[in-house]
Amino acid sequence: MSDIHQLVYASRATFQPTDNGGGVEPEVARILMQSRRNNPRRQLVGALYYGDGCFFQCLEGPRDALDELFGRLQEDSRHRDVMVLRRQSIDAPSFADWSMKYVPAAGDVQTLLAIHGKDRFDPYAFDDALLEAMVGLLQRRSDADSLNPVSVPARSASAAARTTASGGGRWLLPAMLAIVAVAAALWWLR
Ligand SMILES: Cc1cc2nc3c(=O)[nH]c(=O)nc-3n(C[C@H](O)[C@H](O)[C@H](O)COP(=O)(O)O)c2cc1C
Repeated sequence: MSDIHQLVYASRATFQPTDNGGGVEPEVARILMQSRRNNPRRQLVGALYYGDGCFFQCLEGPRDALDELFGRLQEDSRHRDVMVLRRQSIDAPSFADWSMKYVPAAGDVQTLLAIHGKDRFDPYAFDDALLEAMVGLLQRRSDADSLNPVSVPARSASAAARTTASGGGRWLLPAMLAIVAVAAALWWLR
C-alpha cells in the first residue's frame, strides 16, 4: 500500500462572510497564504473550496505529514464540525503542482450541484457520486485557474508571474503588426 494518502474533509467556517463583492474572503486568503508557506516543506498538496459558509478541502501527501496537519487543522478556530468525507491511499498526488490550490469555481460548483439536485453547497450531505464529482472538479480546474492571482501554483510565484506576463504579451506583437499593416494600406490608398 502506498504511503501517499488523500484526505477529503468538510467543515463550517466560524467567521462571518464579508461584503467584498465576490472576491476572496480575507480569512480564506490568510489560510491560503499559510498553506502555501507550510505545505511544500511537508510535501503536501491539495485544493480548497469555500462556499455557502463551508470548506471542502482535499489534501494529499505522505501519511505522517497529513496526520500532523490534520491534527493542527482540527484545532483551528476558523472552522468547526470538521468531518472526514474520504481517506484513502493513492499512487501519486493528483495536485502535484499545487501546495494549495484555491478553486473559486462557484459557477461550476452550482452546475454540479444542480445536476445532483442540490440548490446549495452542503458537503455534509454529499453522496459518493457527488463527492467524486467535486474532487474531480477541483482536479480539473488546476490549469484554468493558474492565471488567477489567488491560485499561485506551488512551484513558484515568480514562475506564475512570468506565465501571466507572457500570457498578457502574447497578443501585443500580432496587434502591432495589424496596426502597421492597416497604416501601410491607408497610406498606399491615399
Ligand atoms: C479550512 C482550513 C484549511 C487549512 N489548510 C491548511 C493547509 O493546507 N496547510 C497548513 O499548513 N495550514 C492550513 N490551515 C491552517 C492551520 O490550521 C494552521 O493554522 C496553520 O497550519 C498554522 O501554521 P503556522 O504555524 O505557520 O502559523 C488551514 C486552516 C483552515 C481553517
